[in-house]
Amino acid sequence: MRKIGILTSGGDCQGLNPAIRGVAKALFDTFGKDVKIYGIKDGYKGLIDGEYEVMEKSAFSGILTMGGTILGTSRQPYKQMKIVGDDGVDKVKAMKKNYEQMGLDCLVILGGNGTHKTANLLSIEGLNIVTLPKTIDNDLWGTDVTFGFYSALDVATDVIDRLHTTATSHGRIFVVEIMGHKAGWLNLYAGVAGGADIILIPEIPYDIDKITDVIDNRTKEGKLFSIVAVAEGALSLEESKMSKKEFKAARAENSYFSIGYRVAEEISKKTWHDVRVTVPGHIQRGGSPSPYDRVLSTMFGTKAAELIKNEKYGYMVGMKNNDVVPVPLSEVAGKLKSVPMDCPVIASARSIGVSFGN
Ligand code: F6P
Repeated sequence: MRKIGILTSGGDCQGLNPAIRGVAKALFDTFGKDVKIYGIKDGYKGLIDGEYEVMEKSAFSGILTMGGTILGTSRQPYKQMKIVGDDGVDKVKAMKKNYEQMGLDCLVILGGNGTHKTANLLSIEGLNIVTLPKTIDNDLWGTDVTFGFYSALDVATDVIDRLHTTATSHGRIFVVEIMGHKAGWLNLYAGVAGGADIILIPEIPYDIDKITDVIDNRTKEGKLFSIVAVAEGALSLEESKMSKKEFKAARAENSYFSIGYRVAEEISKKTWHDVRVTVPGHIQRGGSPSPYDRVLSTMFGTKAAELIKNEKYGYMVGMKNNDVVPVPLSEVAGKLKSVPMDCPVIASARSIGVSFGN
């Protein structure tokens, strides 16, 4: 009998349920009645607290098109994992104990960057781990793409498309804030797909004067509207030169206003234009996974089952050059996949006149 645990950790996104379904269905297909799947609730929290249950085969039917995660999820910062809190719980010890209590042969973990640091830690501690890469941010090292990204891209692009209507009718400037704190993939792709005029990503610090120059030049050409797509984690040239401490202090002064509002205010001060802000927020992570994500999640999930069959542990399933491949967890953990400066999407965007505010 193979006993396999499964948990989803970190922010939810589209594609988690199809991936869970892919893992489970392929395991049942491989091992028949000789497999038991333990669903662990709310991410690492459930593994620490011992909240899990055996899931019947039927639990994995009818979830392909569902957003979110049937297992529940939570954010459990990696930094806190090795620290014994006020409750006196040694989290790593507790996770190992529950893994042993379930008698697991392998634990499948679906998550993003933080999740992978803890997954690697558990692997080093001797647990058999296989992981799947999820995040709308697409910023996980070791895979060309994560599930969630393309579904969120559909939503973010639709938001920009819809803003164009009012922007053109009223001749207004719209600032739209797209998710992505550390990496600008989602905003870069949504900005290009939605025809944004200015795209601001964390990897390219912006100069507000360059932004207003673009707006002024468009005005001279008779284009009274502009769409500015700003990633959540975009930062100004001045901010990029600050130490971490200075940066935190500067942002704390303005903590009620996210970057979209700050950029809009700066534009308003320097131009005569009417500026509006739209923050789609968690709508980007919500709803049904796109067809692409359903396929990707199914491929990733079934590959995880194959690794388990071959007892190949300590790997994340990733996509490299259109191949679904195992990537050692030690190579993935703690690394961020930022947008590189030679990204062809940036080059294409620049060559059609899109500004990156620099
Ligand atoms: O990591 C995915 C993500 O949606 C980021 O784009 C965003 O910065 C963050 O999660 C928001 O986190 P939370 O849902 O915890 O507010």
